[in-house]
Amino acid sequence: MEIRYFEKAMRRPAGAFKDNRNANHPRLFKLEIIAGSPMAKFSFGAGFSPIAYVMLLLLGVLLPAIDISEAQIGVNYGMLGNNLPSQPEVIALYKQYNISRMRLYSPVADALRALGGSNIEVVLGVANEDLPGIASNQTTANSWVQNNVINYPNVRIKYIAVGNEISSFNNNAIYVQVLLPAMKNIYNAIVLAGLANQIKVSTPIETGLLGESYPPSKGAFRTDAQGFINPIIQFLVSIKSPLLANIYPYLVYIQNTQNIRLDYALFTAPSVVVTDPDGNRGYQNMFDAMLDSIYAALEKSGGGSLRIVVTESGWPSAGGTATTIDNAKTYNNNLIQHVKKGTPRRPGEPIETYIFAMFDENQKSPELEKHWGLFFPNKQPKYPMDKKGDTNYTSDSTRRNRILIRIRIVAPLN
Ligand SMILES: *[C@@H]1O[C@H](CO)[C@@H](O)[C@H](O)[C@H]1NC(C)=O
Ligand SMILES: *[C@@H]1O[C@H](CO)[C@@H](O)[C@H](O)[C@H]1NC(C)=O
Ligand SMILES: *[C@@H]1O[C@H](CO)[C@@H](O)[C@H](O)[C@H]1NC(C)=O
Repeated sequence: MEIRYFEKAMRRPAGAFKDNRNANHPRLFKLEIIAGSPMAKFSFGAGFSPIAYVMLLLLGVLLPAIDISEAQIGVNYGMLGNNLPSQPEVIALYKQYNISRMRLYSPVADALRALGGSNIEVVLGVANEDLPGIASNQTTANSWVQNNVINYPNVRIKYIAVGNEISSFNNNAIYVQVLLPAMKNIYNAIVLAGLANQIKVSTPIETGLLGESYPPSKGAFRTDAQGFINPIIQFLVSIKSPLLANIYPYLVYIQNTQNIRLDYALFTAPSVVVTDPDGNRGYQNMFDAMLDSIYAALEKSGGGSLRIVVTESGWPSAGGTATTIDNAKTYNNNLIQHVKKGTPRRPGEPIETYIFAMFDENQKSPELEKHWGLFFPNKQPKYPMDKKGDTNYTSDSTRRNRILIRIRIVAPLN
């Protein structure tokens, strides 16, 4: 008898399965192909029926794990839930999944303490309610920076996001007048601390500030928003900070499901959906179109040199139109892969992007707001996710992707 073994890794290039070949790998299936009898006979190891085995193989193909460890990807850490893990547990979870960037909406001390010494880069928010005090008094701004930045020298704060989605057209209108003065005072405090080269000061906008956005090259800020946004853009240009933007194809899609294709919103359209006559640029997904309409608007407002960091994007898994776990997974997975490549207007420039959000947050409303998490509050991922930060751990999904087939051919000797 001659016994030979052939090994093959599914969906991975040769060599990718090397680290999986340890003896106690819990899901190593054995497929024996026994030849030499009138009919080839298949037998299956570990008590799996052929059907179960084939289904596992299919799972491996249909449910590739999401890789949130990509360098330009971060995750928003919102805390509006009464069932969320403690801040140190959450920071440990970021490390476990090798999520290298985090956005905090406000300087929560327990989170900043737990971030100390980690390599996680942080977008640190100034809460909207704090803007009036900071705007009216440089000392207040200096104290904010002292208490929340200087006091944590081993936290890698990369941006300070002053306020969130301030606009005359939403319920944050009362802060429109104080936003720029608050940004200036925080910037002065950062300069005073000698940190201006490390920490950029900016503010996250929402796309409701745009009047025109179709096709993307026509993008422009609303005329009645320009008195507010143009001076902010000039300030960002002068201090060489990026603009931060929250970009939600989902929210645009649900306003017009009759005319907008779901696959265009989910990055799954098989070909170009919108052609922009300017430069004949082809758009295959709405995220690029939205981002490029902001770039076009910036160019018209004297901010053509600005980079955009996407501080929020995501898709809910329940609570509204087109909300399924599968759609959320599809959107977030494609988002992660897509932003490596840039947009038609800024090709080849990876887009730093923060997924909204880490957890489902049950204290938000309406219902739709509660289901944007990558993770359930019990720290379980909603869909397969690579657990790359754990050096000696291979996630279920990674295992599924790397099912090792051992084929044993048993042939009679001559
Ligand atoms: C973790 O993320 C960093 C930055 O994105 C990357 O350089 C590193 O290779 C990742 N580690 C693993 C184990 O994937
Ligand atoms: C600014 O704030 C500091 C500290 O809270 C306070 O002592 C000072 O009087 C304030 N200045 C003004 C002009 O309100
Ligand atoms: C890694 O392996 C060590 C030794 O087997 C074990 O003690 C440790 O808990 C493992 N770490 C994780 C995160 O599983």
